[in-house]
Amino acid sequence: MAYVLALLASGRSKGFTASILQAAVKGAQRVEGVDVEWVHLHKFKFGPCTSCFQCIRNDPHECVLKDAMGGNGKLMEKIKCANGWILADPVHYWGPSAQCHLFVERCYPFLWSGELEGMPFASISCASNQGMQRLANAELCKWSFCKGFRYIGGLPVHTTYFERALLEAENLGCKLAEAAKIDAGERSKFPDQERYVDYLNKPWSVLEPYLDNMSNGTMAYDSSLIAEGFTNFKRKEALEQLKKAREYFQSALELYNNGRVETACTQLARASAFWTHATWKEFLEADVIKTNVPGAYRPVDDKS
Ligand SMILES: Cc1cc2nc3c(=O)[nH]c(=O)nc-3n(C[C@H](O)[C@H](O)[C@H](O)COP(=O)(O)O)c2cc1C
Repeated sequence: MAYVLALLASGRSKGFTASILQAAVKGAQRVEGVDVEWVHLHKFKFGPCTSCFQCIRNDPHECVLKDAMGGNGKLMEKIKCANGWILADPVHYWGPSAQCHLFVERCYPFLWSGELEGMPFASISCASNQGMQRLANAELCKWSFCKGFRYIGGLPVHTTYFERALLEAENLGCKLAEAAKIDAGERSKFPDQERYVDYLNKPWSVLEPYLDNMSNGTMAYDSSLIAEGFTNFKRKEALEQLKKAREYFQSALELYNNGRVETACTQLARASAFWTHATWKEFLEADVIKTNVPGAYRPVDDKS
C-alpha cells in the first residue's frame, strides 16, 4: 500500500486551500492501493530549527528537539513513512506561508539521511487577493529541488478560477498517487546530475540561479568570484576542492553559452558538489558542525 500525506499549511481548516487539497485527495483516492492521510500542520506544535546541527553529527540523522517534528515526534514519524506529499499552502506576502516554511525547514535531517531523496512531491499555492500564486508555487518547487524530491506537479491557484482549479487538483492528486505507488515498490535515487536536468522544465529550474550563485551574479567566468581567488580560503583540502569546482564551473558556463543546457547541468552539478564540500571544509567542519559531510549529501562525482 502506498501512503500519501495531504499536508495542509493554511490556518483555516475549511478554507480555499483546504478545498483545493480536498479535490487533490479525491483524485489520489481514485488510484487503487493508495492510502491518503490528511494532516493539518497547524494542529501540530513545532518551532524553527535552532541550528544545533545534531541531525548532521548523529547517525541516525534525527532532530533532537522535543516537539512534533523532533526525535520521534508524531509528525516526523508520518513523514518518514510517506511515499508522496501533496503540500497545499495559502499564498502569504507573494510567497509560501510561514507555517509551510517552518515545516520544510524542520525536514533538515532528511538531507543527511537521504531518506526522502526521490520521493514524489506535488504542491498547491492558493491566493485569493492580489495573487502571486505562480511565484509562491515556484518557491515550493525550489524547496522540492533542494530536498531531492521528484516534482510531479504544482498548482498555482487564484480563487477567481476556483472551479477549474478543483478539476486540475483532482488530476494532480491522481498523478501524485500513481507516482507514490511506484515509490512504494522501490524508491529510486535521484542524484544531482539527473535532478539538475529533470528540473529544467519545472516552474523553478536550478541552472541559471546556480550559474548566478557561483559567479555571484556576473554570469561570467573571468570576472567571477570563483576565478578571483576567494582570499578567505586557507585550508589545503578546501582549496583543492575549490579548484575542481572552478574547472567544472568553467566547463558548465562554456556549455551553457553554446546552448548545451543538459550537459551544462551535469557539469554544474559536479561544480556545485565540489563547491559545497570546499565551503564545508573551510568554514563549517572544524568550528561549526564539527563533523565531515555525511555520505548522502552532495556526493562528488569527479569525471575529469
Ligand atoms: C499574512 C497573509 C498574507 C497574505 N498574502 C497574500 C498574497 O500575497 N496574495 C494573495 O492573493 N493573498 C494573500 N493572502 C490571502 C490568502 O492567500 C488567502 O487566505 C488564501 O486564499 C488562502 O485561503 P485560505 O485562507 O482559505 O486557506 C494573505 C493572507 C495572509 C493571512
